[in-house]
Amino acid sequence: MFVTFEGLDGSGKSTQVELLRARLEADAEQVVATREPGGTELGEQVRTLVLHGGHVAPWAEALLYAASRAQLVQEVIKPALAGGASVICDRYVDSSVAYQGVARGLGFERVLELNLTAVEGLLPDRTFLLVLDPAAASERVAREHDRLESESDVFHARVKDGYRELAERFPERIVELDATRPADELSEQVYAALR
Ligand code: TYD
Repeated sequence: MFVTFEGLDGSGKSTQVELLRARLEADAEQVVATREPGGTELGEQVRTLVLHGGHVAPWAEALLYAASRAQLVQEVIKPALAGGASVICDRYVDSSVAYQGVARGLGFERVLELNLTAVEGLLPDRTFLLVLDPAAASERVAREHDRLESESDVFHARVKDGYRELAERFPERIVELDATRPADELSEQVYAALR
C-alpha cells in the first residue's frame, strides 16, 4: 500500500505520517516512511538547492522536484512496495501540481504530465489532504521559514486552490480531512479509511 499526505506547511502532515507509521507497525506491517523533497542522497541535495539556495527559475524548480521524486521512486518506493512494505510519503506528485503547477502558474496539466513521466505513472493508492486556511497554516509554521514557506498568503491560497482542483480530479484517491481537528482524531480517520 502506497499512502501520501498533502497540505500546506503547518497542516500537520509529518505528525500524521508518524502516527500512521506507528499504527501500521503495531499491526506488524513493514513500513517505509519518507519525505519530499529528499529521502535519497540525491534528493537531500536537491532539497538544499531548492529550499535554501537563491532564486530558482520556476521550471528549474519544477524539474528539480521531479528529479528528486524520480530518484525516490526508483531507489526507495518501488523496491519497498515490491518487498511487501507499506510506503508513507510526506508530499508527492500533488505537491508539485499544487505549488508549481497552480500557485506558480506553470499549468496543472503540464506539471502533472511531467511528474507522471518522472514517476513512471506510479500514483498513491490513497492520499490524505489536510485542509487548512493559509492564515491558520502560517501561524502554525515555526519562525524559521524556508524559501517556499516565505511566500505570501496569496501564494498559499493558490496552493490551496490547486489541492482543491486535485481532489476534484482524483476523487477516488484523495481524501480531504479537516486539519483543525486534533491529531489523534485525524489519525483515527486516516486509519479507518485505510482498513
Ligand atoms: P516540506 O518538506 O513539507 O517542508 P518542511 O520539511 O520544511 O516542513 O516541503 C518543503 C517545501 O517544498 C514546502 O513549502 C512545499 C514545497 N514543495 C513544492 O513546492 N513542490 C514539491 O513538489 C514539493 C515536494 C514540495
